[in-house]
Amino acid sequence: MSRQPAKGRAKTAAAKAPARKTATSKTAAAQETAPAKVRPATEPLLSVADIHTYYGDSHVLQGISFDVHPGECVALLGRNGAGKTTTLRSIVGLTPARRGQIRLGGSDIVRWPTHRTIRHGIGYVPEDRGIFSSLTVAEHLDVALWAGKQSASRRDEVLKIFPRISERMEHYGQQLSGGEQQMLSIARALLTDPRLLILDEPSEGLAPIIVEEVRDTLARVKKAGTSILLVEQNVAMALALADSVVVLSQGRVQFTGTPAELEKQPEIKETYLGIA
Ligand SMILES: Nc1ncnc2c1ncn2[C@@H]1O[C@H](COP(=O)(O)OP(=O)(O)O)[C@@H](O)[C@H]1O
Ligand SMILES: [Mg+2]
Repeated sequence: MSRQPAKGRAKTAAAKAPARKTATSKTAAAQETAPAKVRPATEPLLSVADIHTYYGDSHVLQGISFDVHPGECVALLGRNGAGKTTTLRSIVGLTPARRGQIRLGGSDIVRWPTHRTIRHGIGYVPEDRGIFSSLTVAEHLDVALWAGKQSASRRDEVLKIFPRISERMEHYGQQLSGGEQQMLSIARALLTDPRLLILDEPSEGLAPIIVEEVRDTLARVKKAGTSILLVEQNVAMALALADSVVVLSQGRVQFTGTPAELEKQPEIKETYLGIA
């Protein structure tokens, strides 16, 4: 079965799957691509179904569908401008989808404001990291603890995953290296104890050795039970962590499958990811 081309698999899986109200387009059908044996037998934690998102009149996301299961890391890959950031912004309600469904643990969150989505269990690490130059590390964490109504014990729990951050508590944002800022941004998102951590290109601009550190940190976060939706340009890093891969181009899903299945389709990697 794993040798079948993706399109064949998509048809087979879609035919077996119960009809979804929104799964009318070819793109929506492509979401059901993974063979049953690699899908956990659980309800998805996050289910994105045929979402359409616009900037003004510009129709950017044209029917994106994919699932994230509990404990899973899903990598969302694609070239610049493919629609990765817009997909994340649609999920957290910063650029709400005009059509389609986004379900998180059973609730349809597609029209929810961002603060409600975050409270409902999503941690969001944006592309720009959102670190304030004039706040110390401790202050960044205090603000997030206060906003998330979490106790100091949660901070201690999270800091165990980030030994470097614990050593920098009195440093200001501007004194931190790019890698430390990224770690702080991830630590802060984890303070609300999210069920799903969403990250937008955490490796961007970091030296290879720091990218490895971020990768290992995310592996620990995943091992501790948090599901991850990871947008990356660094395909190798993403594939090292991911259980499932979604490839976007021009606001549509072009491939859904495991990293091993992607390896067997060099034309997908070449066309949509620019790697041979
Ligand atoms: N604020 C915006 N206003 C108008 N168009 C935008 C805006 N942000 C992104 N776009 C367009 O939406 C498309 C998808 O962008 P984006 O989601 O940022 O892609 P990616 O994160 O994959 O690089 C691109 O064509 C981009 O030019
Ligand atoms: Mg982006």
